[in-house]
Amino acid sequence: MKIAIYPGTFDPITMGHLDVATRALKLVDKLIIAVADVDHKKPTFSCEQRVEMVKGSLAESGLDLEVDTFSGLLMDYARSRGALMVVRGLRAMSDFEYEFQMALMNRKMAPQIEEVFLTSDQRFIFLSSSLVKELASLGGKIHEFVAPSVEKALREHFRTGK
Ligand code: COA
Repeated sequence: MKIAIYPGTFDPITMGHLDVATRALKLVDKLIIAVADVDHKKPTFSCEQRVEMVKGSLAESGLDLEVDTFSGLLMDYARSRGALMVVRGLRAMSDFEYEFQMALMNRKMAPQIEEVFLTSDQRFIFLSSSLVKELASLGGKIHEFVAPSVEKALREHFRTGK
């Protein structure tokens, strides 16, 4: 069985991420969305909240995927799940340098695991989680960019601070 991991902070998951996941699913038998339990990025939402938003978004998009969390090295996690590849989204040239560096370092650690880059639909090429949060915090419309449950969670967060 071909297993792939799609890792990220997903703070929160956006339509761009869902688009990449949909494309990746065509390449493998099983895709695992792996939410990074990291502090260094100082995520707005806790890992549990981010997982809930991923699950809600997948359900609302009709995608039946496993959702998991990981901490520590991505390649250790990918190996532990028997993954053949790691999927990352590339939006613009500006993503390339960072992703390229990370991919080469990852390959040093786990040469048997391939890193595959997919581009999302051009509607989402400019999207980022930070941008969506900024829009939501200022009362802008975000329904095109996130699933309904994420929109609700963002509105709630900026209303109550939770
Ligand atoms: N659509 C919309 N936005 C997208 C996107 C897409 N298709 N692809 C990426 N993004 C955005 C994200 O929303 C995020 O935006 P933000 O910075 O405004 O929050 C940004 O691009 C990058 O986010 P993400 O894809 O989640 O990557 P990341 O850099 O947060 O996560 C990890 C990277 C967690 C996979 C990486 O740090 C990692 O593997 N960590 C584990 C430790 C490790 O192994 N380190 C060694 C690496 S060599």
